[in-house]
Amino acid sequence: MASAPLFPLEARGLTVVLGGHTAIERIDFVLDAGARIAVLGPNGAGKSVLLRVLHGLIAPSAGEVLWAGSAARARDQAMVFQRPVMLRRSALANVEFALAMNGVRGPERRARARDAIERVGLSSLAARSARVLSGGEQQRLALARAWSLRPRVIFLDEPTASLDPAAASEVERVIGEIHAAGTAIVMTTHHLGLARRVADEIVFLHEGRLTERTAVERFFNAPQSPEAARFLKGELPWNKSSPEPSAD
Ligand SMILES: Nc1ncnc2c1ncn2[C@@H]1O[C@H](COP(=O)(O)OP(=O)(O)OP(=O)(O)O)[C@@H](O)[C@H]1O
Ligand SMILES: [Mg+2]
Repeated sequence: MASAPLFPLEARGLTVVLGGHTAIERIDFVLDAGARIAVLGPNGAGKSVLLRVLHGLIAPSAGEVLWAGSAARARDQAMVFQRPVMLRRSALANVEFALAMNGVRGPERRARARDAIERVGLSSLAARSARVLSGGEQQRLALARAWSLRPRVIFLDEPTASLDPAAASEVERVIGEIHAAGTAIVMTTHHLGLARRVADEIVFLHEGRLTERTAVERFFNAPQSPEAARFLKGELPWNKSSPEPSAD
C-alpha cells in the first residue's frame, strides 16, 4: 500500500458531463485527513457521480482532482458502491481477491480477509457464494472488502440503502470503527439520522451543484442554502423508484 501524502484531497472546478447531461458542475471541495463528510441531496443531484470522480473512476470533463497537490490517483482509497458487484466465488474469496489486487500476499491476506468479514458480522457466511448473498449481506461484504484494504479515505455510496434496521446499525458501528482507525469518510445517504450521527460536516448537492458545506448540527438546524432548507422540509422532488429520506 502506498504511503505517499494523500491529503488534502481537493476537487477544483469539477465538472462531469455524461451522455450530454451535466451531472456535476464546478464543484470545489477540500477533504482533510480523518474528515467525516456526508453528501446529501435529492435523487439525481450528482452524489454518486461526485464519489466516482473523486475515486478516479470517471474522468472529469473539466476541473481536476488533486491528492496532496498531485493529479495521480492515490491507492490508499476504497469505495463501496450503491450496487456492489461480487465475483462468482465465496464471500471470503471476494475479500481476498481485492487484497491480492492490492499486493497483499500469503497468510496476511487470509487473516485480513477473515478479520474484515468478522467485523461486518458475516463470519458465518464466509464460505457462501457471494452472488447468492442477500442485498444487505452483499452490502456488508462490500464494506468488508473495502475496509480490508485499510484505506486512508473511503467513499461510501448509500452504505445502508437496502439494510434492515439491525444490519444498518451494524454498518453504522463499522463505519465508526473505520473512522476511529484514522480513515477519512465520504458518504452519501438518504438516511438523515445516519448522516447526523456519523458525519461532522454535510455537503449538499442540488442539480449537480454544491450549494453548501456546513457543520452537521448547523446544517440540520439552520441550513444555509434555500435548496437544502427545502430538501429538509421534504419539498424537493423525489424519484419514485428510490427511498424517501427517513429520520433513522
Ligand atoms: N452514465 C451516465 N450517462 C448519462 N447520465 C448519467 C450517467 N450517470 C449518471 N447520470 C446522470 O447524472 C445525474 C446524477 O446521477 P447520480 O447517480 O450522481 O445521482 P445521485 O445524487 O447519486 O442520485 P440517487 O440519490 O438517486 O443515488 C443523474 O441525472 C443521472 O441520470
Ligand atoms: Mg446515487
